[in-house]
Amino acid sequence: MDTVRYGIIGIGKMGSLHCLRFKSKLIKHGILTAVCDISPERREWADKTIPKVKFFENHIELLESGLVDAVIVATPHYLHPEIGKAALARGIHTLIEKPAGVYTSAVRELNEFAATKKDLVFGIMYNQRTNPLYRYAKELIDSGRLGEMKRINWIVTDWYRPQAYYDQGGWRGTWVGEGGGALINQCPHQLDLFQWLGGMPSKVVGYAKVGVKRNINVENDVTAYFEYENGASGVFITSTHDFPGTNRLEIDGDKGKLVIENNRLEFTELAVGETEFNAVNKKFMPKIPVKKKIVKRVTKLGLLMQLVYGQHTAILRGFTSAILNGTPLLAPGQDGIRGLTISNAIHLSSWTGKPVVLPIDEKLFEEELAKRIEEEKEFNKKKV
Ligand SMILES: NC(=O)c1ccc[n+]([C@@H]2O[C@H](COP(=O)([O-])OP(=O)(O)OC[C@H]3O[C@@H](n4cnc5c(N)ncnc54)[C@H](O)[C@@H]3O)[C@@H](O)[C@H]2O)c1
Repeated sequence: MDTVRYGIIGIGKMGSLHCLRFKSKLIKHGILTAVCDISPERREWADKTIPKVKFFENHIELLESGLVDAVIVATPHYLHPEIGKAALARGIHTLIEKPAGVYTSAVRELNEFAATKKDLVFGIMYNQRTNPLYRYAKELIDSGRLGEMKRINWIVTDWYRPQAYYDQGGWRGTWVGEGGGALINQCPHQLDLFQWLGGMPSKVVGYAKVGVKRNINVENDVTAYFEYENGASGVFITSTHDFPGTNRLEIDGDKGKLVIENNRLEFTELAVGETEFNAVNKKFMPKIPVKKKIVKRVTKLGLLMQLVYGQHTAILRGFTSAILNGTPLLAPGQDGIRGLTISNAIHLSSWTGKPVVLPIDEKLFEEELAKRIEEEKEFNKKKV
């Protein structure tokens, strides 16, 4: 095989952009042969925009059509694990959109199933892993230059969403439609990067405030505290009602400090690690000498190019190359459960008012989520 025939399941906002990436021939060695959506309006769009691509109303029919070697699953999140498994079961390489799902037991099942299909490529659209600043941060951490992590803090409050966003209806911003608010919709990329760079925490304390300055029933203001096995700590703050908001990631290690803010990375490398310095130092308020300061920037144009052409295209190209040449994926599908575990743990801690030690109690999470889906019916009655 020298060309991968793709199908896209769910051609709404994100799925249709993926269609256009194929239409513009951005995906080398990949062609779009089939799409699927349950919406007549999306069928009309497909008939007009990609008339040569076969349209299906049912994903099983697409998967069994013999027209595709690989699929991209871009439906609302609850369906990702189920459709992902259906595709893999039919011998089709599968790339799911983020988040991997809404609750970890469903994603664990998907991962376990994918692990039995060793000849198939299973990926997740964590396109922000392609951002050169996060990649460079990962390199610094993996090479040991930052030293052992002491602290990781991310404040990402630049997701401004007015009431009009929540009033557009549909599945967004509901427990029944997507299983939450800011954590599950806006933050899966950051929660993935939080663990990609900082590793998985061992304990989580979360405060996920519902309906702050908005008439909504899901969280839009979150503060979470993390503890790690090595004694490090972390904080993750997000909201969708701050404006202009902040997006600052700061990781402190024994050998330096890394900050990413305003599309700029600054790495301060110490001449000697703090632990080593402290072991011999006799002064009361010393300064540890700095060996090097490294600054890297992404320009606004560079960022725009990345968003429009680059990040998702890079994941799609990498996925195609993994199928054709066996090259390793930047974002393997199996990784999807990690960020989702953090998200679920923050919710669960907030719901129970208690710290959550990982692994989370999946049954309790699902029971609490089900309660909120029930309560949402009452909320919607009152809202009308
Ligand atoms: N990677 C990213 O940067 C990124 C950005 C936006 C959205 N997403 C993810 O993509 C997914 C879709 O988001 P969106 O904004 O495109 O939503 P959307 O509502 O615009 O599109 C979803 C589409 O799926 C269709 N659909 C629903 N059930 C279906 C089914 N059973 N079979 C086939 N089609 C079905 C809907 O009719 C709709 O057209 C979400 O999980 C979201 O988190 C990822």
